[in-house]
Amino acid sequence: MILVTGATGTVGHQVARLLAGTGPVRILARDPARVTVKGPAVEVVQGSYEDRLSLSRALRGVRSVFLVTNDPQQDHDAVLVEEATATGVRRLVKLSAAAVADPAALDLITAWQRRNEHLVRSSGLEWTMLRPRSFMSNTLSWARTIRSGGEVHALYGRSRNPCVDPRDVAEVAVRALTEDGHDGRQYTLTGPRALSAVDQTADLAQALGRPLRFVELDPEQASARLRTRYPAAVADALMHSARRQLDGGKAQVERTTADLLGRPARSFRTWAADHAGAFA
Ligand SMILES: NC(=O)c1ccc[n+]([C@@H]2O[C@H](COP(=O)([O-])OP(=O)(O)OC[C@H]3O[C@@H](n4cnc5c(N)ncnc54)[C@H](OP(=O)(O)O)[C@@H]3O)[C@@H](O)[C@H]2O)c1
Repeated sequence: MILVTGATGTVGHQVARLLAGTGPVRILARDPARVTVKGPAVEVVQGSYEDRLSLSRALRGVRSVFLVTNDPQQDHDAVLVEEATATGVRRLVKLSAAAVADPAALDLITAWQRRNEHLVRSSGLEWTMLRPRSFMSNTLSWARTIRSGGEVHALYGRSRNPCVDPRDVAEVAVRALTEDGHDGRQYTLTGPRALSAVDQTADLAQALGRPLRFVELDPEQASARLRTRYPAAVADALMHSARRQLDGGKAQVERTTADLLGRPARSFRTWAADHAGAFA
């Protein structure tokens, strides 16, 4: 049995969808009604990282766990690792982040993921770290201004990042969960090209078949917008991360995604074409 966490989120949803077709999969969800992956081999259990009893119930009989946490102000990985060790889980596949390998990345989110990775590596279980660059799907945050005025508003428009399709991250996760040979591996996962927000705007315009205008935010504007969506400490970490991208710290393209999947990593053009409806 494989337990998938984060199955109402970006990557976990894709992991659950792929596993649903292959064998028994259990999904841990705070609100089971929000889980859209269905199938005869899919079991959904209610639970959360705040409720240890729900975790130990969800982990019963589980061999491998896909571990997603998203709150850098909580120790959810520690709780999951403790419960997984106590219930006899064999393998953890953790969704981490590429930044952990960059010594210049000292922001709150990266420091939290470094601590989480350390916990997983020290657990005594088999482990695999997935370290993706930015998700292509982060551009969904541009949908509102694209729909209302044909504009993309973003910071540092010409800084580049080889963003990765979350579907590719999920395919790698499924391999790590179901195949041998991934124990103790740390996979940095990127897309095929380093792109700027200006490049992504052009690709989205092509996918939508209409022109889009790129409007560069200054750091104060970007920070103020982030603070409307996130706690101040998280917004500051995201600003720090954007600055590292401006300095060229995230531009490196890795072959890992293609090597593991045996085909080229999906391009942003493909992602944009497949998700044009979300911006239309
Ligand atoms: N976005 C990026 O560009 C990027 C790049 C590299 C790495 N990452 C890493 O990716 C991870 C986030 O992955 P994602 O974007 O796929 O996730 P996501 O879309 O943010 O979704 C988070 C998932 O975690 C669940 N969750 C949150 N709090 C929970 C709790 N207390 N108990 C149980 N479940 C809980 C959510 O369930 P609900 O539906 O109930 O909220 C949801 O299913 C983070 O660790 C981040 O550092 C992201």
